[in-house]
Amino acid sequence: MKSNHKIIIGNSIDALDKIEKNSIATIVTSPPYNIGKNYGKYKDKIDKNKWEELIFEVLKKSKNALKPNGSFFLNVSPVPDSKTKEIIPLDSISYNLAKEAGYYLRNSIIWHFNNMQNPTKRLSGRWESVLWLVKDLDDYIFNLNDIRIPYITKNDKRLNPTGGRNPTDVWYFDRVNNMTKTKLGLSDVPTMFPVPMIERIIKMSSKKKDKILDPFAGSGTTALAAKNLSRDSISIEIDDKYREIIRKRLKDEFEPK
Ligand SMILES: C[S@@+](CC[C@H](N)C(=O)[O-])C[C@H]1O[C@@H](n2cnc3c(N)ncnc32)[C@H](O)[C@@H]1O
Repeated sequence: MKSNHKIIIGNSIDALDKIEKNSIATIVTSPPYNIGKNYGKYKDKIDKNKWEELIFEVLKKSKNALKPNGSFFLNVSPVPDSKTKEIIPLDSISYNLAKEAGYYLRNSIIWHFNNMQNPTKRLSGRWESVLWLVKDLDDYIFNLNDIRIPYITKNDKRLNPTGGRNPTDVWYFDRVNNMTKTKLGLSDVPTMFPVPMIERIIKMSSKKKDKILDPFAGSGTTALAAKNLSRDSISIEIDDKYREIIRKRLKDEFEPK
């Protein structure tokens, strides 16, 4: 099924004003974590209040763009403060911002992975959060049957062999490692979503031909997952170097499901 994929280069705070109201089924995004990563144009080290203002504005404006039964999946993680190394719980901070913007928390999903650094003065961090936020707690899309996973006890006769179980709120997906990035010609991209994780999110929260939005698009993993699943997408990204990267990924990595 053919789908459309729009790329908007600009600040999402401005670009979100131009998205049609009540038109988006799912927003999924990973904002910069304010830890000094090298994104190119965007400087990932701003005053904490400025970071909160950015996330709040994006949450608020995204709410207008979302359909009444739409969902916003916000991926953030605990991050060490660059000076003191104290851990800053970006998920708790983001939850408070989301409540202020008028969302309800449907699930706080733990994204668990193995491949990451091993600090010596604290436990190694092996999870990030995906806050599943909805506009309306009584009316939102949840296609559980599209994301069921194999049962643990396969021999239990009471289980429906074609069904599978609820994937729960703890998800394991490998992070995209440097070897894979190099193979894709994307070694410059600092943080990339694993495609299968975004496909799960899109499958559970939208239907074919729906519109999916990522206001911090980076290399365009959300657009790619949307295309694989016959959804339309809008990618907003401040750095114009990503325009060609997103276009190339949509062409080279497309795997219709
Ligand atoms: C964590 S990365 C997203 C990576 C993406 N999930 C992927 O799979 O490639 C965050 C992106 O947000 C962009 N960005 C930062 N501030 C922005 C803003 N105000 N508006 C739009 N994009 C912004 C950065 O340039 C960076 O590419």
